Amino acid sequence: MKGLIFTEFLTMVEQKFSIDMVDEIIEMSELPHGGAYTSVGTYSHLEMNALVSNLSQKTGIPLGSLLVVFGEYLFQTLAKSYPHFINGSKGLLDFLGSIENYIHIEVKKLYPDAELPKFSSHYTDKNTLELTYQSERHYGDLAEGLIIGAIQHFKTGKLVHKEKLADGSVKFVITTHG
Ligand code: HEM
Repeated sequence: MKGLIFTEFLTMVEQKFSIDMVDEIIEMSELPHGGAYTSVGTYSHLEMNALVSNLSQKTGIPLGSLLVVFGEYLFQTLAKSYPHFINGSKGLLDFLGSIENYIHIEVKKLYPDAELPKFSSHYTDKNTLELTYQSERHYGDLAEGLIIGAIQHFKTGKLVHKEKLADGSVKFVITTHG
């Protein structure tokens, strides 16, 4: 997992909780390099799992809820860093439908060692998109937060359905109907 995801996560923890909380979860997680991340470095996603799980333990907030909140936060920072990925799209559904074949392809060009999930998407009608997330890292809750972040950014649409499928993938239904 790219260091930029870790640095954004720790910045969010500092903003929403405190710098002491950042220090405490880094210490609890017994990280190999003491929690010093550079944005272009690459680290095991298990370090992220440890940080989120220790934050959950310290705050009493369920792990899944923390990942959703982080996803919303992360979307805002990605939108600031990569506005051109978003501005080129024709709207929320067009944007979400382009993650697999455009956005994450561009991400892979910038960061060849990025570990990205797979998305399949199809329209059930012209205002409704079904987006299925699949990753061996199982960050369906993070994906949910990123989708909510995109909805907030585009100021339209809602997430009307989330379903964990038997193979571990997660299906989301997003609609821009009234
Ligand atoms: C401007 C838009 C976006 C950019 C620049 C972007 C970029 C990235 C980057 C850099 C990573 C980290 C890869 C790694 O750590 O190795 C990542 C992972 C991820 N992205 Fe995106 N992303 C964008 C939008 C989205 C959206 C809207 C979603 C949700 C539907 C999404 C879902 C995910 C998930 C869940 C991961 C975690 C890796 C995994 O699940 O296996 N991304 N993305």
